[in-house]
Amino acid sequence: MDFADLIRKRRMTRSFRSDLVAASVLDRVLDRGRRVPSAGNSQGYDFVVLEGQQTALYWDVTLPYKRRAAFRWQGLLLAPVLVTIWADPQAYLRRYSRPDKTETGLGKSLDAWSTPYWLVDGAFAAMALQFAAIDEGLGVLFFGMFEHGEAVAKALGVPSDRLPVGTIALGWPDLETEEIGRSANQQRRSLNGSIDSVVHRGGW
Ligand SMILES: Cc1cc2nc3c(=O)[nH]c(=O)nc-3n(C[C@H](O)[C@H](O)[C@H](O)COP(=O)(O)O)c2cc1C
Repeated sequence: MDFADLIRKRRMTRSFRSDLVAASVLDRVLDRGRRVPSAGNSQGYDFVVLEGQQTALYWDVTLPYKRRAAFRWQGLLLAPVLVTIWADPQAYLRRYSRPDKTETGLGKSLDAWSTPYWLVDGAFAAMALQFAAIDEGLGVLFFGMFEHGEAVAKALGVPSDRLPVGTIALGWPDLETEEIGRSANQQRRSLNGSIDSVVHRGGW
C-alpha cells in the first residue's frame, strides 16, 4: 500500500474474524516491527506473541470469565493474535555504560534519563508493527494493560524488570460487526494556523 494511503486509512479495529493469520504474514509483520530506530541502538523491546488458543492466557488475566459477557467489544476477543510489547530499561543502562556512551552519564541510573527512551522505542516498535499489519490488509487495536501489567507478565513468563508498553490485537477485520470506538469521533486537531493546532512554527 502506498504510505500516504496507509496513514490516511489507518484506524483501530475492534472486531476481528477468528481466522488464523498465516505464519508467513505474521513473521513479516513482527520482522518489520523490530526494524525501528532505538536510542543507542539498544533495541530494548520484546514481543510476546499469543496465537489462537494461547490468547486465552491474556484474556483470563485481564478480563475474567464472569465479566466477559458484558464486555463491549466481543469481536476483540476473537482476535487470533495478541502481541504484547515489553520495554527493557536495563538494556539502556547496559548500552549507555559502554565506552562510546559513558560520557552521557546515562548508564549510571534510570533516573538520569529525562525521557524514558525504552518506552519511546517500544512505542516506535508498536507503531511500525501496526503499519506493517495494516499493509498486509490486517486490522489492529493497540490497547493498554492498565493495572494488569504485572499479572500478564507473570502469566506469560516475562522477566520482572520489563515494563508493559501495550498490547496489539491483530487479525482480519470483521467489517460486518465493526463499530467505531468512543473516542474516534473526536475531531482531529488541525495542522497549523490556530492556537489549538498541532504544529507551532517558529516557537509555541
Ligand atoms: C496509547 C494508546 C492506548 C489506547 N488504548 C485503547 C484502549 O484501551 N481501548 C480502545 O478501545 N482503544 C484504545 N486506543 C485506540 C484509540 O482510542 C484510537 O487510536 C483513537 O480513538 C483514534 O482512533 P483511530 O486510531 O481509529 O484513528 C489506544 C490508542 C493508543 C495510542
